Amino acid sequence: MIEHTHDVVIVGAGIAGLYTALETSGTVDTAVISKIFPTRSHSTAAQGGTNAALGNMEEDRSEWHFYDTVKGSDYLGDQNAIEILVQEAVPTIIELEHMGVPFSRTPEGTIMQRPFGGHFSDFGKGPVRRSCMAADRTGHAILHCQYEQCVKRGVRFYNEFFVVHLIIEDGICRGVISIDITTGELHLFRARAVMFATGGYASVWHINTNCLANTGDGLSLVFRAGLPLQDMEFVQFHPTGLYPSGVLVTEGARGEGGHLKNAKGERFMEKYAAAKMELAPRDIVSRAAQTEINEGRGINGEARLHLDLTHLGKDVIMEMLPQVHELGMKFADMDCIQEPLSIQPSAHYSMGGIPANLDTQVLADEKNTPVVGFYASGECACISLHGANRLGCNSTLGCAVFGRRGGKAIVRDLSEIRQSDVPEEQLKAAERKIETVLSGTGNETIAGLREDMRRVMDKGCHIFRTREGLEKAVTAIRDLQKRYDNLQIEDKSRGFNTQLLEALELGHQLDFIEPIAVGGLKREECRGAHWRTDFPKRDDEKWLKHTLAWKTKDGVDFKYKPVSITRFQPEERKY
Ligand code: FUM
Repeated sequence: MIEHTHDVVIVGAGIAGLYTALETSGTVDTAVISKIFPTRSHSTAAQGGTNAALGNMEEDRSEWHFYDTVKGSDYLGDQNAIEILVQEAVPTIIELEHMGVPFSRTPEGTIMQRPFGGHFSDFGKGPVRRSCMAADRTGHAILHCQYEQCVKRGVRFYNEFFVVHLIIEDGICRGVISIDITTGELHLFRARAVMFATGGYASVWHINTNCLANTGDGLSLVFRAGLPLQDMEFVQFHPTGLYPSGVLVTEGARGEGGHLKNAKGERFMEKYAAAKMELAPRDIVSRAAQTEINEGRGINGEARLHLDLTHLGKDVIMEMLPQVHELGMKFADMDCIQEPLSIQPSAHYSMGGIPANLDTQVLADEKNTPVVGFYASGECACISLHGANRLGCNSTLGCAVFGRRGGKAIVRDLSEIRQSDVPEEQLKAAERKIETVLSGTGNETIAGLREDMRRVMDKGCHIFRTREGLEKAVTAIRDLQKRYDNLQIEDKSRGFNTQLLEALELGHQLDFIEPIAVGGLKREECRGAHWRTDFPKRDDEKWLKHTLAWKTKDGVDFKYKPVSITRFQPEERKY
């Protein structure tokens, strides 16, 4: 096996991973491993913006941002973490601006900001322009700037390397093992600190906003290493995926004044959130949209609704939402200047993930014991910034703030961590994983299993959930896991074997969907994005707590831990 040694190895090259690299690279030897070219990471698809209470457009305050995020999370967000998120938002955005991110500008030359769902002034009153934007290509602008800065600072990139094994021994992380996709050779990366910033996984549903690379690999590597995953039952559906592909149409379109309409031409949000309308938080708007579709008020009775931007006019659309216009033309043959876009709810974001603390150290148990030398940030991590429902534009913010904090924490911690040898058994485990897939002779195919997996997730683990649906999903997932042992791929070569990669990704997906379904079955309440029609209320007495799920040979074990509530007591969530 080819060997590399670095002080810090970061897995994933989105906004979170690159921010960590920018923090560590000045001080310690830093490498980034990415299964795709860094600027193709999914952060580049983030459209609407990044929140910070800069107050460039009208008065805004970090404590209002704090309140909105806690309430948006349906009180499951950890308030100690959210307070850091909102406090560090402003300096982080300014740092990005100084790094060279080309934000849109106000006439006065300051960063332009727009309204987004769930963000209000004065503890929930009027809308406020908080989302810092680069038109509707904000993630693209940030990621490209970060990548350029990383290259300038000498970060070592291993592009098209796919991590297949995480090395944890005695509660200490010692590195990762990765395939070089071009050759199929295995590489051992020894590191004193490993940061996982491996992104999300909405690709397990048919209609989703995610890039193809978002297969949740990091989560399954952690789960298989005997560490828990947190709050996996909470998955966000974005109300406005373009119909029929599911590609994201930014909430910024509603921030700019777009209207959601049903087949009767009604602005249906009046029925669900009369005070905030299209700018209610995402869980509420996606449930409203799905209800309209389920009750037959989709356009022509189909699973689609209208997002009407026509009244905004060509100038506003082309200046503020040029990508939305382009996506409509390219993916749906619709010109949103002339006609409403067809949209549908689309799986978008995972609130759960790898449990991590305020310094992004990965946590091994319900007592919050950190794993030495192992960190996680961005969508794959659950620092519980978003609780049961994330507000728009708090994702890129979470990536930036906690990617940056993670880098600072690693630099601080490294003096205490030594480089160490990796036991032979770890290397063999990685080789076995590849050989098992290459030598499979069964009658299952990747496409067949993936299709069935998505059907199961669409049916049982979607916006509305029931005990019966979740029980069926759990049984079906366990059946899919058994069928995976019978997988055969046709390509047995090593170099650029995309079948091998897809088979490994599918194996990861089949592992981490189990805690989504079982966690959802156990949680008998409605909270944020987890909506049980058979338990139609939030139940703070029983369920104001975080779920931790461990993989066992017989399924999944669960434990729970308390939520940090420092300032805002849970109250009824009205919009
Ligand atoms: O609608 C959007 O632009 C998505 C933003 C987000 O998920 O934060």
